[in-house]
Amino acid sequence: MLLGSHSIAPSFILAPLAGYTDLTFRLLARSLGCGLAYTEMVSAEGLSRRASGTWELLEKDPADHPVSVQLFGSRPDSLARAAALVEEWGADIIDLNLGCPVKQVVKTGSGAALLKDPARTLHLLREVRRAVSVPLTVKIRSGWQPGEPTGLTIAAMAEDCGYAAVALHPRWAVQGFTGLADWGLVALLKQKITIPVIGNGDLQNAEQALARQQETGCDGLMIGRQALKAPWIFRQMAELTAGRPLLEPDRAERKKIIADYWDRIAGRYEGVRQVKALRRALFVLTRGLTGSGHFRQQVALAPTAAVLQELFEQFFSGPEMDN
Ligand SMILES: Cc1cc2nc3c(=O)[nH]c(=O)nc-3n(C[C@H](O)[C@H](O)[C@H](O)COP(=O)(O)O)c2cc1C
Repeated sequence: MLLGSHSIAPSFILAPLAGYTDLTFRLLARSLGCGLAYTEMVSAEGLSRRASGTWELLEKDPADHPVSVQLFGSRPDSLARAAALVEEWGADIIDLNLGCPVKQVVKTGSGAALLKDPARTLHLLREVRRAVSVPLTVKIRSGWQPGEPTGLTIAAMAEDCGYAAVALHPRWAVQGFTGLADWGLVALLKQKITIPVIGNGDLQNAEQALARQQETGCDGLMIGRQALKAPWIFRQMAELTAGRPLLEPDRAERKKIIADYWDRIAGRYEGVRQVKALRRALFVLTRGLTGSGHFRQQVALAPTAAVLQELFEQFFSGPEMDN
């Protein structure tokens, strides 16, 4: 899949996930075969006001490419200014969030609120396109409410404005995360526009993801929640595509994946933030391994990184290591 001059190969993509897809997680996903990673959504207002808390969300690393920085906002001028700033910062691609249904975001006229106002969105798409030269993409939901697929209209507008791709999470904004993603709309969008379409929503495993791609003809597959639980899904999709058997990482490999991730977290964060990130990593990435239930209870109570380290070593050096 080509996004401007960036060849996205494989076109298996880590979704933007607020509070999760920080630099350490993006690097983990890349090490397991993800071809493009998005930052979490970043406030255009915050960036253009140069608020330090907002800029902290943008951490750089030479290995973190291609990276798409996702912006949210409602004012064309501040989105355009923020886009220019993140281009200067080094974003390879800039994505506009036109789908977040969270109340605090919608009430400011950002995210999914824009699905209710295609005319305003068109203005915004044009202003941002004028402000930067990197490839731009949009991430949309189907529309605000059932029966009104404004997302598809906005996708066509984005194509007309020179945007490089559209990622569609085919739920209505009012649905939140209830119901199921309607991949029929991904197929429909694929017929409607000629720029790449990235399908997203409820992809749970490699076989199902590739089946969705076959059914809809979409150019890229974006994984969100499942990537948090099993980031090796990216590698598994590549294995299946290449006709190789699908392998689950065994206990020894999980240990290595966690140890590498641990080093990145410990290298970036300190204090409480570090402990929280390590706890979360251990919690999620040991799921399904023999003895992990008890282990996770211990992890939840561990007060320091040193105690977590001890638990980690014990868990992976026990007799279950043969499993
Ligand atoms: C915790 C969480 C945070 C999210 N943050 C963002 C975000 O910052 N920007 C965005 O466009 N979508 C965000 N999403 C939506 C995901 O990118 C994705 O569209 C959605 O989860 C559906 O994909 P999935 O079923 O693979 O998780 C978030 C979803 C979750 C669960």
